[in-house]
Amino acid sequence: MSDHMLTSAHPELVEGSVKGLRQALPERDGVQLLNHRADFPGLVTANGDPWHYLDTAATAQKPHAVIDAIARAYGRDYATVHRGVYARSADMTRAYEDARRKAAAFIGGREDETVFTRGATEGINLVAHSWGITNLKPGDRIMLSQLEHHSNIVPWQLVAERTGAVIDVAPLTYDGQIDLDVMAAMLTARHKMVALAHVSNVLGSVLDARRAADLAHNVGALLLLDGCQAVPRLAVDIAALDCDFYVYSAHKLYGPTGIGVLWGRAGLLDAMPPWQGGGAMIDRVTFARTTYAPPPQRFEAGTPHIAGAVGLAAAIDYVTGIGVEAIHAHETELVEAAQEALAGINALTVFGPRASAGILSFALEGVHPHDIGTILDEGNVAIRAGHHCAQPLMDHLGVPATARASFGVYNTLDDVDALVRGLDRVRRIFG
Ligand SMILES: Cc1ncc(COP(=O)(O)O)c(C=O)c1O
Repeated sequence: MSDHMLTSAHPELVEGSVKGLRQALPERDGVQLLNHRADFPGLVTANGDPWHYLDTAATAQKPHAVIDAIARAYGRDYATVHRGVYARSADMTRAYEDARRKAAAFIGGREDETVFTRGATEGINLVAHSWGITNLKPGDRIMLSQLEHHSNIVPWQLVAERTGAVIDVAPLTYDGQIDLDVMAAMLTARHKMVALAHVSNVLGSVLDARRAADLAHNVGALLLLDGCQAVPRLAVDIAALDCDFYVYSAHKLYGPTGIGVLWGRAGLLDAMPPWQGGGAMIDRVTFARTTYAPPPQRFEAGTPHIAGAVGLAAAIDYVTGIGVEAIHAHETELVEAAQEALAGINALTVFGPRASAGILSFALEGVHPHDIGTILDEGNVAIRAGHHCAQPLMDHLGVPATARASFGVYNTLDDVDALVRGLDRVRRIFG
C-alpha cells in the first residue's frame, strides 16, 4: 500500500473494543438520526433476519412508495407516451413529463434542459459523443481526475481517440480530494472540457464544484459533473454550482435502474447533434433529409423508460419528503460512528477524507477485500469489495481493491455495529 493510508489504526483501542462497541459508540446527540428502515422491504434476509445493507453507493434499496408507483405504472396506468390519442396515453404522457419536471427541479434545472437517459453512464457518453465529437479537435484537452469512475473516463478516451484530443488527469490531495490548486495550474486555453465526480464513489470526497466551475470557465472550458453519488446525499443546485452538464442515475437515489438524467445548458443542448436516431427524436423524416426535434426529445430516441420515469418521480418525492439535508446529516453521523469504531480495529486503514459523504473505503492488512466481503456476508452484512470501477484510483492508492461500506437513509447504528462485529470476526479468522 502507498502512503495514502489516510486514517491509521489506533492499536491502543484494539483488544476488546469491538465487543463493547454498542456502549462505545458515541452518543449521536444533536443530530436526529432517521428511522426509515421499515419503508424498505428489501432489508431482510430470506430467513427474515435483518439485512445490514451497506452497498448503497452501488445501488440503493427501494422504498414501498417507489415499488408501488412502478407497479401502478405497469398496471392500471400503463400506456405509451407522446403518441397515443386515447386518454390513458395522454395521462401517462403527463406523468412522464411531470417526472421530467421533478427530475429537473430536484437539481434546480429546467425541464427543457433535462434529458432522460439510461443512467449516468449514458449521460456522459451522450455528452462525450454528441458535444465531444462536434467540438473537439486534435490538440484540444480534456481534464479528468485520478478518482473518476470508469464511466467518466472511458467515454472521453473513446472520443479522444476519434478527435485527437488529449486527456489530462488532475491529481488528488493527501486525503483523497481532487487537488484543485494543481488542476488550476494545469488548465490551459486548450482545455475544452473538465469532467469531474461531484462525490467520489470510493472515498466519499466532495468536490468544491463551484471552484471547479470557475477554474474551468476561466480558461474557456465547460464543466461536466458526475453527480451519481452526490444527488442521493447532498442538496444540489446546478445554478449555484455553475456547471454546464450534470448527470445522475435514479437507482442510486432509491429509484429504478435503467433511467437517469442528463441536465445541460439550453444553448449547449440546442447546438448538439443527435446521438442516436429513431422514433420520437425527429421533426420530419424523408429519405432526402431528416430534421430533428428540439432538446430534450432530440436525445430520447425510441420508446422511453416510461415506468422508470414514474419510479424516479416517486423516488424524488420520497427523498424530498424526508429532506436531502436530513439524509446527509444522518449518513454523516453513521460515517463518523463507523470511522470511530473502525479506528479501533488493528491493521485497518480507512481511505479518504474525514468528511466523507456516506462512503467509507478500507483495507485490512493481510486480508483480501473479497474475503472481507464474503465473511461479512455470513453475518448478513453486505459491503462491496473490488476496484469499484475506479482502477486508476486503486493504482494511486497502491491497492488492487478496497472494501467499501456505503450508507443510505435506511441504515442505523445497528448496521455499523454489525459491520464492526463482522470485521472482528474477519480478524479472528485470519489470525
Ligand atoms: C461516481 C459514479 N459515476 C458513474 C457511475 C455509473 O452509474 P450508472 O451505472 O448508474 O450509469 C457510478 C456508479 O457506480 C458512480 O458511482
